[in-house]
Amino acid sequence: MKVYFDNAATTAMDERVIEAMLPFMKDHYGNPSSVHSHGREVRTAIERSRKKVAELLNATPAEIFFTSGGTEADNTALVCGIETHGITHAITSPLEHHAVLHTLEVCEQKGKIKLTKLDVNEQGVIDMDQLEASLKANPNSLVSLMHANNEIGNINDLNKIGSLAKEYGAFFHSDTVQTMGHYVHDLKSLPVDSIVAGGHKFHGPKGSGFLYVRKDKKIHPFIHGGAQERNMRGGTENVIGIIGIAKALELAYEDMAGHETHVKALKKHFIESLKAGIPDVEFNGLSEDLDKSLYTVLNVSLPPSEANAGMLLFNLDLAGISASGGSACSSGATVGSHVLRALNHNPERDSVRFSFSRYNTIEDVDYAVEKLKELYAVEA
Ligand SMILES: Cc1ncc(COP(=O)(O)O)c(C=O)c1O
Repeated sequence: MKVYFDNAATTAMDERVIEAMLPFMKDHYGNPSSVHSHGREVRTAIERSRKKVAELLNATPAEIFFTSGGTEADNTALVCGIETHGITHAITSPLEHHAVLHTLEVCEQKGKIKLTKLDVNEQGVIDMDQLEASLKANPNSLVSLMHANNEIGNINDLNKIGSLAKEYGAFFHSDTVQTMGHYVHDLKSLPVDSIVAGGHKFHGPKGSGFLYVRKDKKIHPFIHGGAQERNMRGGTENVIGIIGIAKALELAYEDMAGHETHVKALKKHFIESLKAGIPDVEFNGLSEDLDKSLYTVLNVSLPPSEANAGMLLFNLDLAGISASGGSACSSGATVGSHVLRALNHNPERDSVRFSFSRYNTIEDVDYAVEKLKELYAVEA
């Protein structure tokens, strides 16, 4: 049996997304910047996709910029947000994805900003009092705090953070890569200045993404070149990626509640079965809390075991189960997780992130639990 439980790393593409993309690999090959009919038909399709994304998020098409993915969108928002708005201080947390953390660290190394990383407790909860104190002490700040964490699933309260940022006149960027396509984002009411998406996290194509920037917080371009994306991103558009991400988002919104109900039930069953089957099992961050963490992520901390020490992911892989030990994007290299380190996680315990999608079944969960029970029964 093969089980794919690494959906926070990437998801299988929806057949309907592939169907939507195919004509743009075959018949509609014009360059969207060309003024002839071959170009115009592709330009029209791109603008239709932009309108669709904007409608779903309750934004305007002028606020949506297509990118190569979440990483580029984060880089653009942060580097250009800082530069355009004369920002001198940024506030983030040690739990952010490297697309945010490394970008801000480079800005700091170049002397553009002073960087504050907020304290988090052992469950990965951010110190909100420290956020307010830091905003008060540093008038010209940018806040970058993710909507939900890709490793432990903790969901941050964007309304609370955004209201504080607004109160102190700060620019608020949120990395929404893990929630886009899984939760509703209503940008008319959500107090954020910029958010991002990566299409491959919600059954769209890899190498597709977008950046939303609120219209009264316009920023300079990150990539210079042609006039594509209304001068915000030079380079011939990834047409199939744009068609694909818009279709994937449309499908996600069509039955978001249904997907959530299905996946949440899998996660609940997984938690209960592990608690019943493996003594001393724990869950990292808030991932055991179905309301305060992503329904797509469960981060399991297993008791110290000689047979599995450092080998857990390998042993699961041998059993046909694909899961992840840290941030998906840098998995493969066993460099350890900066998120679990920030939580002071006991290094003697092995952790594994199981992440789910609407394509997973209860049989997948039961199989993984059985295999984990076998692996940990070795020493029983
Ligand atoms: C929270 C978060 N931000 C950013 C990224 C990077 O997105 P992309 O792979 O589309 O560049 C990821 C990917 O894992 C992520 O989980």
